[in-house]
Amino acid sequence: MADLGFEVLGLDVDEDRIARLSGGDLPFYEPGLEPVLRRNLADGRLRFSTSFRDLADFGDVHFLCVGTPQRADGYAADLGHLDAAVAALAPLLRRPCLVVGKSTVPVGTAAHLARTLADLAPVGGDAVLAWNPEFLREGFAVHDTLHPDRIVAGLPAEQGAAGHAEKVLREVYAAALADGTPFVTADLPTAELVKTAANAFLATKISFINAMAEVCEASGADVTRLAEALALDDRIGGRFLGPGLGFGGGCLPKDIRAFMARADELGAPRALGFLREVDEINVRRRARTVEVARRALGGSFAGRAVAVLGAAFKPDSDDVRDSPALDVAAAIRAEGGTVTVHDPRAMANARRAQPSLRYAGSALEAARGADAVLLLTEWREFRELAPSDLAPVVAGRIVVDARNVLDPAAWRAAGWTYLALGRP
Ligand code: UGA
Repeated sequence: MADLGFEVLGLDVDEDRIARLSGGDLPFYEPGLEPVLRRNLADGRLRFSTSFRDLADFGDVHFLCVGTPQRADGYAADLGHLDAAVAALAPLLRRPCLVVGKSTVPVGTAAHLARTLADLAPVGGDAVLAWNPEFLREGFAVHDTLHPDRIVAGLPAEQGAAGHAEKVLREVYAAALADGTPFVTADLPTAELVKTAANAFLATKISFINAMAEVCEASGADVTRLAEALALDDRIGGRFLGPGLGFGGGCLPKDIRAFMARADELGAPRALGFLREVDEINVRRRARTVEVARRALGGSFAGRAVAVLGAAFKPDSDDVRDSPALDVAAAIRAEGGTVTVHDPRAMANARRAQPSLRYAGSALEAARGADAVLLLTEWREFRELAPSDLAPVVAGRIVVDARNVLDPAAWRAAGWTYLALGRP
């Protein structure tokens, strides 16, 4: 927003995070974001604060961007942070403003927050709530923010408020709209659902191809060829049809669970029953990867050394939330294997999440003395590894390509046992 020319004040309740951001230091890895942060701090358009009062006095538009993680006691989303943010902000709103929800929420949340706002804001009906879901991907956050593929504007039912909210959102997104980005208006619940439905669809697509991988494993077929051929039907398309270790991260897994939980609450549990299968197929890929490696090592990990390449849930991220790679690494360790992990960016987060694994400063160091090498997150530097890079350091030439990114012919020709998911 600052880069687009707006004056921006960012708030977090975490003082350490705010201090780091104010100093131009990103508290997480996201390609291309740090220069944007520093440029806008230097230009004075971007500032940070921990004061809700500063925020309330400052903003014409307030974006709510707090996390909605999975609850510890079940599948539903934990709305505690979001409720707390609105409860802290609303009583301080003395000037007309638009409050815009971006967090991924169960359908119906916006209506409930609009009531909180109406009850608590001194400015009353001049504090309007809109819902504007966010579709950015980690690793592409800057691009996706500046060049979104669509803007969804969930507007309040009351006509005057809706007209005002739409006008403000069109000003906020003027640059993207000038580029021809589609602008879809909807009511609040529909806008909330666009987000959860989109992530549910993406998860379903990944689990569909991974279910095909299971059938390929049972029948001797090759899922990568299958996916390639399916993708040529442009009604199907190739994106998110990549077979392998499946999805993780802070979004897809918890979003499909929260979606199921919400459907249950709404009395429509059967509507999303298939998402339980989507989740189970996804989790089975992790167990399958462990099984493929175990078999290759003769049936047991006890006393064996395993190199794990990748800890982040996807490349170009340091995020290890629900990471398939770390899950597999921990499972092998639990079966008695000595597991050494390398990730180009996620080492610190991985160490915090799985302190009992060993960590190495490079792929080659991780592979030194390994009886098997597992490629679990498809960072470019791992995709580009040649058999001759690893051969001099490993104890055994076994490679498990859980993301289907290496060239099987090249590895086999170099004398390796090459194994993958969904391929003979
Ligand atoms: C996802 C959505 O793609 C974004 O549109 C959305 O805004 C975001 O969640 C969110 O809700 O905030 P993200 O979690 O950054 O974005 O990651 P994705 O690129 O969707 O990848 C998710 C997982 O699926 C990764 O673990 C990735 O390895 C896996 N994946 C992806 C596959 O296993 N196969 C594929 O073909 C594609």
